[in-house]
Parts: sequence; structure tokens; C-alpha cells
Amino acid sequence: MALKVIGWPGAPLAADLAAELDAESCALALHRFPDGETLVRLDTGVDGHDVVFAVSLDGADAKALPLLFAADAARELGARRVLLVAPYLAYMRQDKRFHAGEALSSRTFARLVSSSFDALVTVDPHLHRWRDLAQLFTIPARAAHAAPAMAQWIAANVEHPLIVGPDSESEQWVAQVARLAGAPWVVMQKTRRGDADVSVRLPGPLAAGRTPVLVDDIVSTGRSLVAAAGALAEAGMRGTVAVAVHALFEESAGRALHIGGIERIVSCDTIAHPSNGIRTVPALARAVRDIISSTG
Ligand code: R5P
Repeated sequence: MALKVIGWPGAPLAADLAAELDAESCALALHRFPDGETLVRLDTGVDGHDVVFAVSLDGADAKALPLLFAADAARELGARRVLLVAPYLAYMRQDKRFHAGEALSSRTFARLVSSSFDALVTVDPHLHRWRDLAQLFTIPARAAHAAPAMAQWIAANVEHPLIVGPDSESEQWVAQVARLAGAPWVVMQKTRRGDADVSVRLPGPLAAGRTPVLVDDIVSTGRSLVAAAGALAEAGMRGTVAVAVHALFEESAGRALHIGGIERIVSCDTIAHPSNGIRTVPALARAVRDIISSTG
């Protein structure tokens, strides 16, 4: 397969994915002009190649336009197909007009991606009000799943785990991780009043003698995990571990998690972060191979 993987400068994803796919990798060359605009350059020949842009979309506002420029450049320079591999897919949580006048960013972003790329591969996108990626994207789109790797990590590192989801949206990950780890699970009820104002309620008494393992798809402010860990501590549970797919960790999150008394937090490698301890790149590579072979 004549495949080239191009990544974001300084991010390990492209080289990691290219190693799994036995492909060549390089980074996009970016130049920031004094006026804040970005010049994008491909430092590798792409004529006749399938080109994979492997860029996780944390900090999406800064990455989105350069990526669209790069996709067009690749196509104009003769790429056979141009794929986006974004282990973290941005804007998926804005799947409803929560307040009057708000933009439905997930739909607009999907339209932009669909108009510039031939296919999309991601890891566990935040699908809640959107049923699946096909509802949003008009190009072939695949989601690789982190649950098997998360379950494996939990089974190897936590004795007698009780898998706990901080809200009903986490049920899809929690139930699957628990089944694969052979552990019981519960899901809390969450109320979010603002970005950093979150409270949760336990569904009832919890199984005794278990180590709680909070499982969520995204850690952003960390407030969901902190509220959930607080409720577990009040219920007498000790040694809470947290496992997350996408470690967005906005600036105050590390402090919040520390205060929140979570004993250990481990994330998947979908966004490079010091908490990374679970590899999803092999699953991502399988999804890339699959989408390339099934789209001819
Ligand atoms: C919400 O729907 C998501 O599944 C996460 O629970 C949420 O995005 C986490 O955000 P934060 O870390 O800011 O509480």
C-alpha cells in the first residue's frame, strides 16, 4: 500500500501510526505569519499515494484550518486519496442547541471535514444525540474502540474493580469495559450547571470490597471525575482510579483532579498527555487498513 502518514509537528501520533502501518511518516511544515495566519507545506511527495493526515483534534480551533489547507494541497499535488485520522474528534459534544442561538458545531465541523477528506477514522467519538458518524459525515467514517485496551489495563492493574460511569452518557463505554474486564458496573446521574459546576448522584448502595474505577470518554475540566470521586468517597469507597479515553485536560484539570482525591488517573494515547498509559494506536491502525481496503 503506497501510504504516507503526515502528522502535526511535535506530536508522536503520525510516527506511531506509521510504524503500525509499515508506512512512511513526516510532519506538516507550518509557518505562523506575524498576522496570525498559517502557511502550510507538505515536505514529502504525495503524487500517487494514499495520504493519511494523523492529527488529534484537541485544540481544534488552531488545527482545523491548517488541516483543510493541507488536505487540499495533498489532493492538488496528486494524492490518490486523502484521509483524516483524528483519534480525538472535536466538537462532538456540541450536538444540540443547548441555549437559544447556539451553533450546532458538530454538524458544521462534520460538513467541513466531509468536503475536504475522502474518509475519516477516529477513536470513540462522543456520540450521544447523534446516533452514529454516518448521521453527520457524508464520507466513509470508522470509529476504533478503546474499550478492549481499557478493560485489559483495568484487569491487569486493579483488584476487584467496580466500573463506575459519572453520567448516563458514559454508559456505552462503561458497560462494554465492565463486560470485557468481567467486573460489575454502575452509572451515576450527573447535573452540569456550568463548565466547572458539576454534581453527581449515586444510583444506590454500591458493592462492598471493590475498588472504584471511574470510566469516561473525555476529561476536560476534570469536574465530572472530581464530583464522581467525591460521591464515591462519601459512600465509603476508597482508592478511586480513573480511566479516560481522551485526556483533553484543560489547564485547571490537573489541580482539580488532585484536590478531588483520585488516586490514579490513566488515559489512552488519543491525545498526547503525561497520563497516557493505554495504547489505542494498534486499533486505530486496524481501522485505517479496513477503511482503505473497503473504499477501494
Ligand atoms: C460529557 O458528556 C462527557 O462524556 C464527559 O463526561 C465530560 O465532557 C467531561 O468533562 P469535564 O472533565 O469538563 O467534567
